[in-house]
Amino acid sequence: MTLPGACGVRIAGIGSALPERILTNAEIEKTLDTSDEWIVQRTGIRERRIVDQATEGTYTLSRDALRRALDHAGMQAGQLDLIILATVTAEMTCPSNACRVAHALGAAPTPAFDLVAACSGFLYSINIADSLIRSGRHRAIGVIGCDAMSTIVDFNERSVSILFGDAAGAVVLLRDDDPTLGCAYQSMNADAAISESLYIPRRDQEVPENDKDNPIRLGCLRMRGREIFKFGVTKLRIMIEEALDATGLCPSQISQFICHQSNLRLIESAREKLGLPAEKFYINIDKYGNSSAGSVGLCLDELWRAGKVKRGDWVLFAAIGGGLTWSSSVWKL
Ligand code: ACO
Repeated sequence: MTLPGACGVRIAGIGSALPERILTNAEIEKTLDTSDEWIVQRTGIRERRIVDQATEGTYTLSRDALRRALDHAGMQAGQLDLIILATVTAEMTCPSNACRVAHALGAAPTPAFDLVAACSGFLYSINIADSLIRSGRHRAIGVIGCDAMSTIVDFNERSVSILFGDAAGAVVLLRDDDPTLGCAYQSMNADAAISESLYIPRRDQEVPENDKDNPIRLGCLRMRGREIFKFGVTKLRIMIEEALDATGLCPSQISQFICHQSNLRLIESAREKLGLPAEKFYINIDKYGNSSAGSVGLCLDELWRAGKVKRGDWVLFAAIGGGLTWSSSVWKL
């Protein structure tokens, strides 16, 4: 059934989930040739959360985040007509984690699928969900961004393992009669030209000749950090400029610029090039590291609960991730 008429999209509920276990830089110092000082100075990270792999993972974090978003919205899972879960760390490819979450929360036979766009995954998902609701074909969509990066990070490798953590963020998006609510502008991009700067090969055939000596084992994330860093700073700046141009909004009208927490220096560098004030850029990478698809939703949840963003505010989301992918989204909350 297609619902008639123009509509907007309301973020009716927001939730997040984190593992309890905190892995500090001090602990990493004990096993790797690195230091708290290096990690803080180069990345802004002081600690991150990691799952207990015996009992936790992307599935449990995703389930808990969406349950909290549904509670916040005052809704039951059965009222959702679609669930999208952005992740690169699903325990199984079949069933998808989205199907498992739908089942666990009592939403079945609601359609559910996983979406793979690494750190851009949550933004791809809310962009798609907004469009589906505005099309009239959907009324209520649960979106989750979640990664348990600790399950695909080689903890013997200092260049990668210091950066990542595990987290989930979720929203419940609802059709609203006010057409000004929801996504006013979105961009989604993908280009595999330098995908080998950030990739997770599962078979030797996928490893390029110039990376055959890489000590990181198959199945784990490989990254050429400096290349990703440069790419990220440029794309973040361009995406924010384009989003402001397209919407006609000036930076003072944006309550918060909510960027994927990739690296504090990367975000700061883009922000300084844009000449925007630090207090407009939410940062929580110090506590959670880079949680890939989990990070943007987690930031939104913290901001909302702290009263730093509220109904009617404009927020600008932006993320860069594996693929490579990059995406932005401007929302009136
Ligand atoms: N501790 C101490 N020294 C280190 C460490 C470490 N943990 N890691 C690297 N180094 C050393 C290197 O060996 C190198 O030493 P050398 O100069 O003697 O050769 C030196 O530090 C500089 O190395 P770089 O790799 O150039 O360090 P950089 O300042 O670029 O920081 C980092 C590395 C933190 C990885 C950074 O490049 C980064 O954050 N890049 C972006 C990562 C990112 O955003 N990923 C995107 C998303 S992930 C996703 O989509 C799933």
